[in-house]
Amino acid sequence: ANNTAGLQGFPKYKVANIKDIQSSNCPVYFFTYPLTNEPCFIVDFSKLNNQTNVEFKNPYFGQFAINSKFPTIKGVGPKGSICAFSAICVHLGCQLPAQVLTSSPNLPGLNPASTILHCPCHGSMYKLDEGGIVVGGPAPRPLPIVLLEYDNTTGDIYAIGTNAPYFSKTRPTSNLIYDPNYSYQIPSNPACTSG
Ligand code: FES
Repeated sequence: ANNTAGLQGFPKYKVANIKDIQSSNCPVYFFTYPLTNEPCFIVDFSKLNNQTNVEFKNPYFGQFAINSKFPTIKGVGPKGSICAFSAICVHLGCQLPAQVLTSSPNLPGLNPASTILHCPCHGSMYKLDEGGIVVGGPAPRPLPIVLLEYDNTTGDIYAIGTNAPYFSKTRPTSNLIYDPNYSYQIPSNPACTSG
């Protein structure tokens, strides 16, 4: 299949309501998209590191047809602070422990101040407030962003697509420890169990 056609065909799903995000101190909220076994997470930067009206360069701008409209990506919600990412590491597909940030703040995971999310498998590091760019480790490309739409009359938050495929074209096709068909465990919300 052609990736460009696939990206244009992404469905629009409601993934949360603003009350789900506002009702906890946790800056992370898990959902699945576009398939029910593909973990993604919302991050509210206003809670993570006090950023509002977030806007960053789209690292994949110009590479896929769908994001030719999006040279930058902006946070949604009342504070413009809500973004979402795939929780699947683009290296070999490990699940990223976004929920680590408050349940185990001193362990490798998401560093709130730097917004760097570490993959526990081989150490890839993604900087979330710069659009998921790779700042360390073997990941071959940025962490895909889930594009969001916010309805300010209902507070509903929708996923409407992604800025890139979740898996690398170059990924190994044999001897995978973590395979795209791996059965991910989707954390329940609220994702953070302690502050
Ligand atoms: Fe994440 Fe290898 S799977 S660094």
